[in-house]
Amino acid sequence: MPEYTINVNGQQKKVEAVPDMPLLWVLRDLLGLTGSKYGCGIGACGACSVLIDGEEMRSCRFPISDVGAAKVTTIEGLSKDGSHPLQEAWIEHDVPQCGYCQTGNIMAAAGMLRSKPNPTDADIDEALGSHVCRCGTYTRMREAIKAAARGVK
Ligand code: FES
Ligand code: FES
Repeated sequence: MPEYTINVNGQQKKVEAVPDMPLLWVLRDLLGLTGSKYGCGIGACGACSVLIDGEEMRSCRFPISDVGAAKVTTIEGLSKDGSHPLQEAWIEHDVPQCGYCQTGNIMAAAGMLRSKPNPTDADIDEALGSHVCRCGTYTRMREAIKAAARGVK
């Protein structure tokens, strides 16, 4: 089986995997990073989202063989202790309900804030609009993102 060395959360990691193994399974099953979730497996829900070179990607549809030298950031890499502004704002605004979709939404928000540090409602809707939240936390997510962008909780 091929061996790949990928950069995940700032560390070089070696994994053995078939070339078409989705990055999501590499992260969860081979590297023990279970923060990224499996929802649909077809790129439609966003539960599996990670950042690849700072851009949101759906890891269920991203084969390990395409990672190359890119930097992968998972929810575990946002901060060591949950102190990323988005994570703190998420808690402060009581955003999660069941929680299953939340990783993907936080990662999408993190990707968006890199290019849009003061996002409008339209920016947020564009970045998170294709993420499915069965619990309907969209309004709270929007408020939390704005608070994180303002630097307040
Ligand atoms: S599990 Fe990847 S988009 Fe749904
Ligand atoms: S918090 Fe339950 S699906 Fe989003």
